[in-house]
Amino acid sequence: MAQLAPSILSCDFSQLKEQLLSAQLGGVKIIHIDVMDGHFVPNLTFGPIIIKAVREILPQAILDVHLMVDNPKAYIASVIQAGGDVISFHPETVPDYGIVIKDILREGAKASLALCPGTPIETIFPLLPELHQVLVMTVNPGFGGQKFISGMEDKILRMRKAIQERGLTTEIAIDGGVTEDNIEFLAACGASIIMAGSLVFSQPDQITEKVKKLRQKIEIF
Ligand code: DX5
Ligand code: ZN
Repeated sequence: MAQLAPSILSCDFSQLKEQLLSAQLGGVKIIHIDVMDGHFVPNLTFGPIIIKAVREILPQAILDVHLMVDNPKAYIASVIQAGGDVISFHPETVPDYGIVIKDILREGAKASLALCPGTPIETIFPLLPELHQVLVMTVNPGFGGQKFISGMEDKILRMRKAIQERGLTTEIAIDGGVTEDNIEFLAACGASIIMAGSLVFSQPDQITEKVKKLRQKIEIF
């Protein structure tokens, strides 16, 4: 059953608590949190302080932290201490991603590798069995509200095939450009966790209804 994970990048931070509780009321179990350092991506967001706030608002949720930073190793301990459950990082940002996966596991979280649209899926095949999740980026990382890059559906299909061939249960998360029109199709292609920012938070008075509607579209897969 595919799951929806709202990305707080698009929420109204002056209403963080209300908006997160509205999403939870709609049945959301996973929250996606984009940490950006202004180096790996040209945008700057937030870090452990906000993760801790989300954890306090939603004690039971799975906090999926997407590190878009140059030196992810330096933030693993503090992100997990703040409440992060699943940590994604980009393999391009480290000399040896196997070491960073081990660090994440040792600190007690689940590991995920994030693939930019231009990064081939084969890059991560050697360590696929160590991963809880692969995060397939369907826009270039950095900003919410971008358009889905066409061709990424094929990448999701190939990733699904690679996981099945190896007899693994790795989650395939997708991130960026999800709309009401493509969400069902993306779940059908094999996405098991679907991040959605602007789609969930653009109409603040309708978050609960929107989440319920989107869940209905994807929970059949
Ligand atoms: C982009 C972020 C995404 C972003 C998605 O760099 O990693 O998580 O929040 O936003 P939407 O769903 O608006 O494309
Ligand atoms: Zn993200």
